[in-house]
Amino acid sequence: MKLDILIIDDDKLVNEFVRDTLVRHKHEVVTVFSGEEAKEILEQKSFDVVVTDIKMKRISGMDILRQIKSGPVDTVVIMMTAFGEVDNAVEAMKLGAFDYLQKPFSPDEMELAVNRAGDFIKLQLENKRLRAEVGDKYKKMIAKSSKMTKIVDLCQSVAPTRSTVLITGESGTGKELIAREIHTRSNRVDMPFVKLNCAALPGGLMESELFGHEKGAFTGAVKRTLGRFELSDGGTLLLDEISEIPYNLQGKLLRVLQEREFERVGSGSSIQVDVRIIATTNRNLKKHIAEGKFREDLFFRLNVIPVEVPPLRERLDDIPLLVNHFISKYCAETGKEITGVDDSALRLFMKYHWPGNIRELENCIERAVVISQNKILSTKDFPSSLVLGKIEDHGAGFRVGMSVHEAEKLLILKTLEEQEGNRTRASEILGINPRTLRNKLTEYGVAETGSKEISSEQADLSQTE
Ligand SMILES: Nc1ncnc2c1ncn2[C@@H]1O[C@H](COP(=O)(O)OP(=O)(O)OP(=O)(O)O)[C@@H](O)[C@H]1O
Ligand SMILES: [Mg+2]
Repeated sequence: MKLDILIIDDDKLVNEFVRDTLVRHKHEVVTVFSGEEAKEILEQKSFDVVVTDIKMKRISGMDILRQIKSGPVDTVVIMMTAFGEVDNAVEAMKLGAFDYLQKPFSPDEMELAVNRAGDFIKLQLENKRLRAEVGDKYKKMIAKSSKMTKIVDLCQSVAPTRSTVLITGESGTGKELIAREIHTRSNRVDMPFVKLNCAALPGGLMESELFGHEKGAFTGAVKRTLGRFELSDGGTLLLDEISEIPYNLQGKLLRVLQEREFERVGSGSSIQVDVRIIATTNRNLKKHIAEGKFREDLFFRLNVIPVEVPPLRERLDDIPLLVNHFISKYCAETGKEITGVDDSALRLFMKYHWPGNIRELENCIERAVVISQNKILSTKDFPSSLVLGKIEDHGAGFRVGMSVHEAEKLLILKTLEEQEGNRTRASEILGINPRTLRNKLTEYGVAETGSKEISSEQADLSQTE
């Protein structure tokens, strides 16, 4: 495991010796020669491991240890002590040092200590991940359909890399959840996951939101403020609704993606960051490019790993699991004891076109759990728009201006939909004989056994995409 290591020793020889040993083992090493320098760099950057001398002028290794242990990051600290400083070493261990090495030590001893630190870090990560999984039981991603399991596999394989991911999909399909999943499965899991909605702010503010600003950079800039790029250093930055990012910022964003550096607004010096970018959009970026609203070069930089999330209506296999998942989620929240949905409700879900995708399904279930008096949810617990939605989507509802023919067609189809495709009942309600109904339906292209046929007796729940 490659580690980010900071070496602190005012003795140049020791410093070089340790650095050479660790660089030989392919670690990323930074060296400083005083506690002051160490403090400064630790404020800007976090390390996996800090190897520090105990005794230094002014700011000692113990001070550094205290500073690290009071901070938010679990950096592993290894102390180096001179002969006769065992008391200090014991004190350091009490304060949370991971290990200590007594000078003079061999390269092997150093390597051993760092390897143990590496193993420890790995364990810590694993623990965090497990804890996150248990704690966020209801944030887990449900994926049963082949389309979604493919996406889960893709997340798994790209998570450990730093490659930029572009997630596209309709509203409510789970783009943000997927972005978080990638972050959680990466070794950045204990670093920040920062989100910025690119549609939420006007251009001027957006720049400072992304890159931060210096005090006095513009009216109202009363103090230095860090941007999202700095805040997510070491972690993941989610740029939500990327299509909405102002054109003049697209070039600046491109530069960060290419060079991993940028300047705060009002500053001349560039800042380097290690950030994994995930962007999402529910727009067609290719169209935005064609219309000159989105830079093509930025698109290619973002689209390194494209993830296309299908709408819910194209992955019906996920519906039963999602339904149960949301039922237990809202039962846990409300203390109700609902065990599931009945067949007719499930059939309804399989037919509905879900314009709001999973978010809409979740809202539906939440509402039904709250209002239902029964242990099993049924069609009456769900809004009638679920029943009619499919037809309404194809042609609007009744309106002045539509022909009698159109109105008749709409009435017949809506009635049939409401009766779950039962033609006998539909014809009774419509007051026409079943033969007439059948002829009308044939005229509308609703065949007896065709794909539009919705029979309550034999709706196919195992339908795949
Ligand atoms: N596969 C899934 N399993 C469980 N819950 C999911 C799944 N996909 C989405 N959700 C839930 O659905 C809701 C909407 O998901 P999310 O916010 O990720 O969608 P989005 O694509 O980012 O939407 P928008 O485009 O509107 O921002 C969230 O509450 C999320 O937890
Ligand atoms: Mg979103």
